[in-house]
Amino acid sequence: MHRLKEVLLFLRKEGQYVSGDYISRRLSISRTAVWKYINQLERTGYSLDKLKGKGYKLLKAPEKPYPWEIERYLDTKFIGKKIIYKETVDSTNTLAFKLALEGNPEGTCVIAETQKGGKGRLNRAWFSPAGKNLYISIILRPAVHPTGIYSITFLSSLAVYDTIETLCGEKPTLKWPNDVLIQEKKVCGTLLELSTETDMVKFVVVGIGFNINMQEKDIQKGLKQRATSLNIVMKKNYERAFVCGILLNNLEKYYSIFKKEGAEAVCTIWEERAKLKGKHLQIDQMGESYKGFAEGIDRDGAILLNVDGKIKKIIAGDVNI
Ligand code: BTN
Repeated sequence: MHRLKEVLLFLRKEGQYVSGDYISRRLSISRTAVWKYINQLERTGYSLDKLKGKGYKLLKAPEKPYPWEIERYLDTKFIGKKIIYKETVDSTNTLAFKLALEGNPEGTCVIAETQKGGKGRLNRAWFSPAGKNLYISIILRPAVHPTGIYSITFLSSLAVYDTIETLCGEKPTLKWPNDVLIQEKKVCGTLLELSTETDMVKFVVVGIGFNINMQEKDIQKGLKQRATSLNIVMKKNYERAFVCGILLNNLEKYYSIFKKEGAEAVCTIWEERAKLKGKHLQIDQMGESYKGFAEGIDRDGAILLNVDGKIKKIIAGDVNI
């Protein structure tokens, strides 16, 4: 893979026809190896022009979140330094969890083009059409007590919030605990999965489902009223590798705030962006429904709801505004 990347980088940098001989000399690899990598690039979806006497020219890269494409946009110290890319998985969270148990380092990511058993919150399924959106899971190993972990879910929605603002020039809406909405429809959700030891978090898998290029016609019936994508809102396609790069940069930015300033700092930023205080909400939690005014988020990430003057702490559920 290392050498393949080098050939790709070289073709990109040259931006014009380069002969096999020239590539072979400049990269110190054999002509046969050059030929092998050119074929491999074509099989991976890169389009190249080949002219007798002139050589090869890179015409177009596939719209795929390949690790080496994401790398071009990364400005991180550890998040995304190792990315495992799969065409199909059951769930990127399940695979990332397994890799975390095997000892893979903090920042390792799993990305898939589609998920056969994509998981949402509260045991729901996550709709994962192939080749359109981002399905990514990131392994983090924060040194915190399990009760302090909840704010990690805010890190990812804040990272998505900033990414959308940069890409679309529009501020999305944040909905507790981890939804990101545009024009009142969900564009992104996060699912955290934890491994703990009595008093310590061993690792957490942050699974992000971010709808990018999915169109109205790709959405299954029953979801159309609730789901959207950047494409549906902005009427254009986005390069997923680029979106992913920005997202991971933002995630590392918020994660370092979490590590330096603590969970409370993250909750405060989230609360401000969500314009939560004073909002009238109805929250459904395990068969019960509560109506009241939001007082804020407490340090465990729970929402504090003022129900007729009494503060109710809600740790899980669905919010209606
Ligand atoms: C939600 O219900 O809002 C959370 C959705 C999380 C979906 C993502 S897609 C990548 C990762 N893998 C999964 O199986 N789920 C998460």
